Amino acid sequence: MTTDAPGAADTVEIIALSGVAVLVRTAHSDDLAAVNDLHGRCSPQSRRARYHGPRDALRTTEWRRLVDPARAWSVLLAAADEPDRAIGFASLIRLPDPDSTEASLLIEDRWQGFGIGTAVAGHLTTVAKRSGAPALTSWIGPANVRALRIAHRLGADVRVADGVAEARLVLQPRVIAVPPYEPTAVSYLPACRGTTRSSW
Ligand SMILES: CC(C)(COP(=O)(O)OP(=O)(O)OC[C@H]1O[C@@H](n2cnc3c(N)ncnc32)[C@H](O)[C@@H]1OP(=O)(O)O)[C@@H](O)C(=O)NCCC(=O)NCCS
Repeated sequence: MTTDAPGAADTVEIIALSGVAVLVRTAHSDDLAAVNDLHGRCSPQSRRARYHGPRDALRTTEWRRLVDPARAWSVLLAAADEPDRAIGFASLIRLPDPDSTEASLLIEDRWQGFGIGTAVAGHLTTVAKRSGAPALTSWIGPANVRALRIAHRLGADVRVADGVAEARLVLQPRVIAVPPYEPTAVSYLPACRGTTRSSW
């Protein structure tokens, strides 16, 4: 469920299936300190799962890219009763392939397993679809059960190659040009010769 949070035009409140309420708002360049505080509260395993390598924090240039509307859209997540402390962040990132947009999520360890990832992934999917993105792609470690379950729940096609699972979710129906049908004079069906019963 998604509702407008009172008093914050750019904030939506998402209720996870567990009943936990999460505030989701667009992130800005001056949120880097809050995002890096969040990184400090995450385990190395969670950060590795998000970045597919060791990572303690984001550099200013990296964060600028994640909040640059020409390249990406990122949101900060907060608990409803503590709106100024980030418990996670998520991003939609334009890829060089114009047919796809990357979706990524990082949720603080003590907030994992409450359905927040599922709810926020659904929100990202809705936003991406409304903005006209043809498809979403996420790269997931093959042992990352939670992320893989979210991908499957959303209906993504998941393929494992080179030790990484690529989850791809098509958002817009692809229009395929079909040549106009022209009945041909040649029939490929054998002529019926005096029998009314099929021999099949
Ligand atoms: C992956 C991540 C975003 C998932 O978010 P989350 O809020 O923890 O996940 P949810 O609570 O929504 O659970 C997602 C699924 O995992 C299942 N799950 C939750 N905890 C689990 C556990 N301990 N063991 C197995 N499955 C579990 C849930 O039941 C759900 O599956 P279902 O819908 O089939 O029932 C979050 O754990 C995270 O930030 N991890 C570190 C970074 C990362 O891996 N990012 C993804 C790659 S970009």
